[in-house]
Amino acid sequence: MNFEYTEEQKAVQAAARDFARNELFPGVIERDTHQKFPAEQIKKMGELGFMGMMVDPQYSGGGMDTISYVLAMEEISKIDASASVCMSVNNSLVCWGLEEFGTAEQKEKYLKPLAAGSIIGAFCLSEPEAGSDATSQRTTAEDKGDHYILNGTKNWITNGNSASVYIVIAQTHPEKRHKGINALIVEKGMPGFVVGKKEDKMGIRGSDTHSLMFTDVKIPKTSRIGEEGFGFTFAMTTLNGGRIGIAAQALGIACGAYELALKYARERKAFGKLLCEHQAIQFKLSEMATKIDAARLLVHKAAYLKDYNKDFVKAAAMAKLFASQIAQEVTTEAVQIHGGYGYVKEFHVERLMRDAKITQIYEGTTEIQKLVISRELIK
Ligand code: CAA
Repeated sequence: MNFEYTEEQKAVQAAARDFARNELFPGVIERDTHQKFPAEQIKKMGELGFMGMMVDPQYSGGGMDTISYVLAMEEISKIDASASVCMSVNNSLVCWGLEEFGTAEQKEKYLKPLAAGSIIGAFCLSEPEAGSDATSQRTTAEDKGDHYILNGTKNWITNGNSASVYIVIAQTHPEKRHKGINALIVEKGMPGFVVGKKEDKMGIRGSDTHSLMFTDVKIPKTSRIGEEGFGFTFAMTTLNGGRIGIAAQALGIACGAYELALKYARERKAFGKLLCEHQAIQFKLSEMATKIDAARLLVHKAAYLKDYNKDFVKAAAMAKLFASQIAQEVTTEAVQIHGGYGYVKEFHVERLMRDAKITQIYEGTTEIQKLVISRELIK
């Protein structure tokens, strides 16, 4: 086994760290307070190659491996999880799905600008009545010969208003259940497509989360991804990879909070000595650091398996399950170490604690990860 990163991976990690510190850190509290999407920063992330990291260079991507991607995700998430969720969805759900399953025309038209970061994509699976129970799609794509007519509502869509391209999952043949579902590429501005209200969220408040409404939107069949009825398998397969990105995000949130807590414990005095000289704090730091290292091993194992074209479904679900759990625990302890300061915005850890929660919910809740893992164990 080799735990060393390659020179290229180290360079990507350093570039992401610098970008996060220099470009994302200033204004992160303000964006969180006012729910402001980091549009300028995301544009720069595109220019630096962070929005299509693993895409083949022939489609304007970075041609990097998944390890580089999770290293970058971790660094960006340490500072701004609102920016990293946008990055994760664009990389893992939209670009990967299009590269793996899209037609040559779809790759030319959509993947190239998405991978270059000149436009952003969104992945639209969740509905008011289909969250974890994703097969219960109510959005319909009625087959009209050479096109579909799309009707329905999608909820909690990341990049909901800032995206230009949306991959929408919809039911065409309800009698076939999940085998009747399609994945369609929808462009912003198509007649009948309306971006609904922005969600006022607990965490990742800088990210752009909206409901979407489709009323008789005409989608040409050339915009379907894969064969007729492939949509649910498309969503599940894409989410398997997406979960590695969200696991890396959870890891980054935990690590960001831990680093702040460690710094604080080295500077702040109580009862005549530094916090880090108190055993109560030392034990907390030890547990936080151990959990972070364990989570990183799981994240990197999942990324490694994906890079080597091995089955990574269980590993990705385990990485997301564990990293999101420790993100909760570590960020809560980071607030605790900061005491009263931890409870105010200026010290960042309260935001990281709020941001951590969503990693146990999106791209499959903790309970769905356990379901995926157990199905893999007993199959
Ligand atoms: N990988 C590949 N295929 C999978 C899969 C996986 N992890 N899990 C299920 N499938 C396939 C099954 O093999 C089956 O296909 P076949 O019939 O062809 O064999 C099909 O999907 C249906 O599976 P089940 O019969 O097991 O259906 P189920 O209803 O019992 O379970 C589920 C399905 C696993 C619970 C699924 O609904 C699920 O994953 N739910 C969670 C949805 C989710 O993660 N949503 C996240 C929203 S996107 C998001 O959050 C993005 C963002 O903005 C950040």
